Amino acid sequence: MLTQNMQKSLNDQITAETYSAYLYLSMAAYFEDQGLPGFSAWMKAQAQEELFHAMKFFNFVNDRGGRVLLGAIEQPPTEWASVVDVFQATLDHEKHVTSLINKLVDLAIEEKDHATNNFLQWFVGEQVEEEDTAGQILNKLKLMDQASGGLFMLDKELGQRTFVPPAAGQE
Ligand code: FEO
Repeated sequence: MLTQNMQKSLNDQITAETYSAYLYLSMAAYFEDQGLPGFSAWMKAQAQEELFHAMKFFNFVNDRGGRVLLGAIEQPPTEWASVVDVFQATLDHEKHVTSLINKLVDLAIEEKDHATNNFLQWFVGEQVEEEDTAGQILNKLKLMDQASGGLFMLDKELGQRTFVPPAAGQE
């Protein structure tokens, strides 16, 4: 059974993960407008991954006998100064999400809620990957001369990403 405090915090995380999807979808729209379909495809896959994260929390709250209550989703930014700016914002956002996950773990430990702590460990690992991926793309972008063919090549590379939900038990 979840405490009221834990239920509220997990519900807030459903909202935060859904906002992440919305943010990345907004970035996808920006890239479409910039004529960068590969970057857009990458962001669309990222948005799908975030909805998958939201659903993991949704299902967990239900599995623990809690009540899912969805909150309001804020409007995401719609404009960025450059491609580098978008990936800097992505990395910053993922660092923020990591801090939210860490606070949830702190609460689970404080409440001696081992089941929630165990559930959250998947997200602890996932956030390491999320920050690493965004950081690597940001580094590549910073290193390349954006006026050259580098941006085109990276657009092609990122366009190959598709979101495949992990098979049950291999999440
Ligand atoms: Fe759901 Fe990008 O963390």
